[in-house]
Amino acid sequence: MPATRLSVNLNKIALIRNARGSDLPNLVQVAKDCESFGAEGITVHPRPDERHVRYADIPLLKEVVTTEFNIEGNPTRRFLDMVLENKPHQCTLVPDAPDALTSDAGWDTVKNQDFLKKVIGELQAEGIRVSIFIDPVESMILGAKDTGTDRIEFYTGPYAEDFFKDKRQAIEPFKKCSTLAGQLGIGVNAGHDLNLHNLAYLNDNLPELLEVSIGHALISDALYYGLHNTIQMYLGKLKG
Ligand code: PXP
Repeated sequence: MPATRLSVNLNKIALIRNARGSDLPNLVQVAKDCESFGAEGITVHPRPDERHVRYADIPLLKEVVTTEFNIEGNPTRRFLDMVLENKPHQCTLVPDAPDALTSDAGWDTVKNQDFLKKVIGELQAEGIRVSIFIDPVESMILGAKDTGTDRIEFYTGPYAEDFFKDKRQAIEPFKKCSTLAGQLGIGVNAGHDLNLHNLAYLNDNLPELLEVSIGHALISDALYYGLHNTIQMYLGKLKG
């Protein structure tokens, strides 16, 4: 079975850049370097206030990313037009509020069924693979199937939070829902609060897992270990 892919989320790099209003660090250079250090994908999550990655960054990144380019966000019309224009390999739809500090819940795939179907169809018609951010709840996986999505991305915040208390209990809903997604032919991604402590256990317990996207912890670890070492350490957790 191929190893789970590591996609590096560059939002925190953009946040540092934006703090000074200059171009340091240069996002495009960091994306290229992450790839040369072993990253198998680059993820960005341009939020409406553009406090991290900006809409203007997207075409520049699209031009240089040679692995897999994943754009995440809430599918407003502005977001969708940008995604359709830039045609990333994957678009991850996230139901985050415009002022959300970070994404903290998955879609209700039953209530938002018609909306998701329409948006997913629009993206797929342009050859863009779609993943939707989701909590590990069986009814949400069944709802996801009906939206026509290619993949789901598990919101792993609660897993990370409970990991040190009881990792077996923390992984349980993800295992169950990952198996169900596999049976339904939906690909499985995961992201949020994954780090060097909890990543291997998640990966070892979800044989369906295709990709993880990691930002906050990976960039924080890079302050200590350097970006090259850190990416290699995360890859090590995924490849055993
Ligand atoms: N997946 C989604 C949908 C996100 O919004 C984020 C945070 O931008 C991540 C994954 C990555 O989370 P973290 O920064 O905690 O690794």
